[in-house]
Amino acid sequence: MSPIRNGHDRQITVGIDIGSSNITCAIGEMISTTKRVRLLGIATVPSSGIRRGSITNRDELIDRLENVLMEVELMADIKVTKTILSITGEHIRSLNTQAAIALNRSNGNPGGIMERAINEGDISQVLDLAQAVSLPVDRDILHTLPQEYLVDTLEEIKNPIGMIGRRLEGRVHLVTAATTAMNNLVNCVEELGITVDGLVFQPLAAAMATLQEDEMELGVTLMEIGASTTNIAVYHGSAIRHSGVIPIGASSITHDIAIMLQIGIEEAENIKIKYASASASMSSPKLDIELPSSSGQLERVIPEQEVSRYVEARMQEIFQMVIREISRADIKDPLTYGIVMTGGGAKMRNIVHLAEKTLGVKVRQGYPLKIDGGEDFADGPGYVTAMGLLLWPLYAMDHIHMQRSGSGGFKDFFNRIRHTIEDLF
Ligand SMILES: Nc1ncnc2c1ncn2[C@@H]1O[C@H](COP(=O)(O)OP(=O)(O)OP(=O)(O)O)[C@@H](O)[C@H]1O
Ligand SMILES: [Mg+2]
Repeated sequence: MSPIRNGHDRQITVGIDIGSSNITCAIGEMISTTKRVRLLGIATVPSSGIRRGSITNRDELIDRLENVLMEVELMADIKVTKTILSITGEHIRSLNTQAAIALNRSNGNPGGIMERAINEGDISQVLDLAQAVSLPVDRDILHTLPQEYLVDTLEEIKNPIGMIGRRLEGRVHLVTAATTAMNNLVNCVEELGITVDGLVFQPLAAAMATLQEDEMELGVTLMEIGASTTNIAVYHGSAIRHSGVIPIGASSITHDIAIMLQIGIEEAENIKIKYASASASMSSPKLDIELPSSSGQLERVIPEQEVSRYVEARMQEIFQMVIREISRADIKDPLTYGIVMTGGGAKMRNIVHLAEKTLGVKVRQGYPLKIDGGEDFADGPGYVTAMGLLLWPLYAMDHIHMQRSGSGGFKDFFNRIRHTIEDLF
C-alpha cells in the first residue's frame, strides 16, 4: 500500500481483519528509522454477514465495516482512504513452484560469453516465470512469496543481486484464491469510498506480526484459530513452505457446549469464555457452573470439568487436522520446531498446555511484535492478524502484481509497495 500522506506528512498504514466473529480495524504510522509501526487507533466490532471467509449478507457486512471505521477514525483522528484487508476461506490453496533463466547470454559473437552480475530485472523475470502456473479461470494468484534462489550449483541464496553465474533459479510459494471471493470482499469496502490496496491471507499477516526471525529460520508453524476457520503457515529456512485453511474454528466449541447442555449459542459462548479449559484435567472438579434456566424449569448445575471435557475433545480434533495439514509441508519433521498460536481461539484457558501435550512440541501464544503504542489495550492474540496487516507494506516480499478485473483498485499494488519501501529506506 502506498502510505497515505496526510497534512502532517505521516506515513499511515491501515488494515482491516474481517472475521466471522469480529472485525478489527487498525491504523498505524510507519516509523522509517526503526522499521516499526506506531499504533494510532484500533477498534473491534462484532461481525455479521460473513462466514468462513464467504460473504453471506453483503448489507450486514457493510454496516459492520462502517461501524468499525467510524470507531477507529475517531480514536486515531484520521480519515481512512486506503486499506489492506485480510482474507481466508476454503477456496484458498497454496503450492510451491520454481523457474529458472539463463543469465549470461552470448554477446552477439558466437561462443563469446559476457559475464554480468544478477540484477533486479533477472529476479523479476524468474519470479514472473515461477508464478506463471496454469490456473482455472475462476482463480487468481493472491501471493507470490520467494523462498530462495539458486545460482548454478549454489543453493539457499536469499538475495542473489550482484552475484555472477550462468543460471538463476527461483523457488516460490504461491497462494491462490477464488477471484469472486476476492472481488466481493474488496467491493464491500470500496462501497464505503475506501480504496483496497491489497488482500493478505490471514496466517501470513499474523506471522508477520508475531514470528521472530530465529523461529522462521529454524522452523515454526503459525496457527491462527479464528471463530470459523483455523489458518496455518509453516516456515523453515526463513521462508514460507506451506499455508492452508482448516474449515473449523473456535465457534465449533461454542456449538458443542450449546448442544450438550441444551442452551442457546450466546449462553454457551459466555460459559466457554468464563469457565472452559482446553485441558479437562486442569479444570476444577469441584466447581459447578449454574446454567441459565427459563422460567418454569428447574435450576441446573454442571461441573466445570465436564464442560472442559467437551472442549478438550474438540480441540484435540482441531489439532489432529492441523497436524495433517502441516504434514503437507515439504520439509522434514516440520513439527519439531514448535507452534505459535494466535487468533481469538488461542485465548482459551490452558490451550498451550493441551497443545504441548497433544503435539509433543514447544507451543507459545503469539502476541503482536514490532508495533508500539498498543501494549496496554491491543496486545492479545486476537489482534495479531490486524497488526500484521499494518506491517505488510513494510516487510512483505510479495511479487504478485494484482490485476483486479475492471479498473483501479489494487492493480499493481505490490509493485507500488516495493517502490514505496525503497523510497522509505
Ligand atoms: N477468552 C476466550 N476463551 C476462549 N475462546 C475465546 C476467548 N476469546 C475469544 N474466543 C473465541 O475466539 C473466536 C473469535 O476469534 P477471532 O476474532 O480470531 O475470529 P474471527 O477472526 O472473527 O474468525 P474467522 O477468522 O475464523 O472468520 C470466537 O469463537 C470466540 O469464542
Ligand atoms: Mg480471523
